[in-house]
Amino acid sequence: MEEQKQGDSDRITREYFDSMLLEMRHIDSRNPDTTFTLYGETFATPIMTAAFSHLEQVCREGMVEAAKGAAGAQAVNWVGMGDEEELARITATGAKTIKIIKPYADHELVLRKIADAERCGVLAVGMDIDHAFNSKGGCDQIRGYEMAPKSREDIREYVREASVPFIVKGILSERDAYKSMEAGAQGIVVSHHHGIMEYACPPLMILPDILKVVDGQIPVFVDCGIVSGMDAFKALALGAAAVSVGRALIQPLADQGAEGICGKLNQMNDELKGIMARTGCYDLQHMDKSVIRQMSGQKK
Ligand SMILES: Cc1cc2nc3c(=O)[nH]c(=O)nc-3n(C[C@H](O)[C@H](O)[C@H](O)COP(=O)(O)O)c2cc1C
Repeated sequence: MEEQKQGDSDRITREYFDSMLLEMRHIDSRNPDTTFTLYGETFATPIMTAAFSHLEQVCREGMVEAAKGAAGAQAVNWVGMGDEEELARITATGAKTIKIIKPYADHELVLRKIADAERCGVLAVGMDIDHAFNSKGGCDQIRGYEMAPKSREDIREYVREASVPFIVKGILSERDAYKSMEAGAQGIVVSHHHGIMEYACPPLMILPDILKVVDGQIPVFVDCGIVSGMDAFKALALGAAAVSVGRALIQPLADQGAEGICGKLNQMNDELKGIMARTGCYDLQHMDKSVIRQMSGQKK
């Protein structure tokens, strides 16, 4: 039997999702509409791919296949680490793409990556600030590149440099949300980067506090542990603008390439609609956190 790690953030996150139960509200309900708008573009669903990288390990041209799948589902496509040529092949699929740049220690490299992404026609750029350190407190090294923690001033400069919205990914505190806002970020992703640290707060536990800091000024996205339309619903009902799905898309990609990604996103969106219909949340502007109760019976 696989040994369970006590502080496994993925397990803790799963348990938190499962501790949330839903009321049903049928009277005056309607057929739901999941149309989602972001940075001036319209999508069929608020369920997006996660910022993936190196999917060639999953299937041939995995990053391009994932983008085709997202485009097929009319979903936002996120990408992580990778070079400009790959990004150009990704955006050539027509997928509206958000590029997340690593927190490279080399400041000039970050600026070049922002410019590369803009040339490729991305919808937005951002940075996964939670990948600065390794688990021993040193700076992370990823594929030979040195990472570094980023200051408010660094983020301010990226925001200034980018002609598209700049998103900070890996926010798991009110403090970082506040600092990102101060630096001018135009979106944040509440995430623990699939358990980068043990005993990390489940994103949905901290989401309500982060939303108070953000006060509706910028979209707040959520990822980590979202595997179903039900998980997506809980995040959206609590106030997330949209959610990203990472590891739950890997097997569909391995099995069926773009069709697998498209099929899984569509399936999750259908589940989401089913739950929206039965909870009286008929579109994304009418999601309502009061449909959620904790196991104790307490309303959210
Ligand atoms: C294969 C793979 C590659 C990833 N590469 C990146 C990356 O380059 N940059 C990034 O910000 N996040 C990256 N992530 C993390 C995801 O964007 C996301 O935060 C995480 O997977 C969400 O959790 P989930 O897998 O439980 O849905 C990657 C995830 C996977 C599964």
